Amino acid sequence: EKNGYDHFMLKEIYEQPSAILDTFRGRLLSNEGIIKMSGVEDNLQKFLNAKRIIIVACGTSWHAGLVAEYLFEDLARIPVEVEYASEFRYRNPVISSEDVVIAISQSGETADTLAAIKLAKSFGAFVFGVCNVVGSSIARETDAGAYTHAGPEIGVASTKAFTTQITVLTLMALRLANAKGTMSTSEYKKFLFDLESIPNRVEEVLKSDSIVTEISEKYKGVSNCLYLGRNYNFPVALEGALKLKEISYIHAEGYPAAEMKHGPIALIDENMPVVVIATKKGHYDKIVSNIQEIKSRNGRIIAIVTKGDTTIKEMADYVVEVPETSESLTPLITTIPLQLLSYHIAVMRGCNVDQPRNLAKSVTVE
Ligand code: M6R
Repeated sequence: EKNGYDHFMLKEIYEQPSAILDTFRGRLLSNEGIIKMSGVEDNLQKFLNAKRIIIVACGTSWHAGLVAEYLFEDLARIPVEVEYASEFRYRNPVISSEDVVIAISQSGETADTLAAIKLAKSFGAFVFGVCNVVGSSIARETDAGAYTHAGPEIGVASTKAFTTQITVLTLMALRLANAKGTMSTSEYKKFLFDLESIPNRVEEVLKSDSIVTEISEKYKGVSNCLYLGRNYNFPVALEGALKLKEISYIHAEGYPAAEMKHGPIALIDENMPVVVIATKKGHYDKIVSNIQEIKSRNGRIIAIVTKGDTTIKEMADYVVEVPETSESLTPLITTIPLQLLSYHIAVMRGCNVDQPRNLAKSVTVE
């Protein structure tokens, strides 16, 4: 059932082009300029009247929530707060019936997320679920929702569940942007076509596997690793770091690139690889100067760059090229080489990739 792949995780990484396609099948009608999601359509007024959206989730799903914060604020101009479900539920949070809560969970069984939903409902908030497992507890507990349709994810490290969550959240943000008129029709249509081309771009970026394997060989022995990104790719940095620590047991941290000089820069020396997501559109000049700062301290730079980039190529130890797309859609692309990096390093270190120590696929206790 691994379909010829050595591990479920690798199979699931490679399934992403088709998983993303399945996620928007029947929902994304680019020629007509329509996004059809019944859970959103049936509750459109609730979303449009929402004073803010509160996103609750844990782990990788929380990272998808952070990407959604950029999407909803940037495209649909709706204020968003992203909360760790475990903190939210015990914080005596201020929730009202004018809030819309989005709960994101692959398994639909995460105890803290489920408890956060119950709490939000008790204050009269409308709760929308983004789940992968059909009929799961969270899918049943929420008022409405949208499934990710990623298919079963067996590897404990979440991969295709993450990119399909982002796909659903992108569809939602675009639908709301269109309904609110925060985006011109031509911009909206361009987005739909760009989104539609994502599976092909993911297919293309999967071809970076050989260079990523080479990078993995080089850095498999390190004890620490830093991941940096800005804007839409800041959550991707967090996700890259989580993936590496989870399956290879290397200590890794993700940071917004500009936060480096507020602390983590002290860690940089010739033994510290720094993975920088540095695609052309996301505050490129700023990230280039962050790379310079790392280089002048002898840090090792692995940069994820837009195809054809030459500036960063001259500065970095390794670059992984990814195809160009709208900035808001880059997380769907830049995540892929980071998944492959953690996978290969973990395999090279002899780790149990699909079932890392101390971790369970769904965390049903708090
Ligand atoms: O099933 P959920 O999406 O609610 O799970 C949340 C986290 O437990 C999960 O994303 C975890 O962080 C993964 N192992 C990450 O790869």
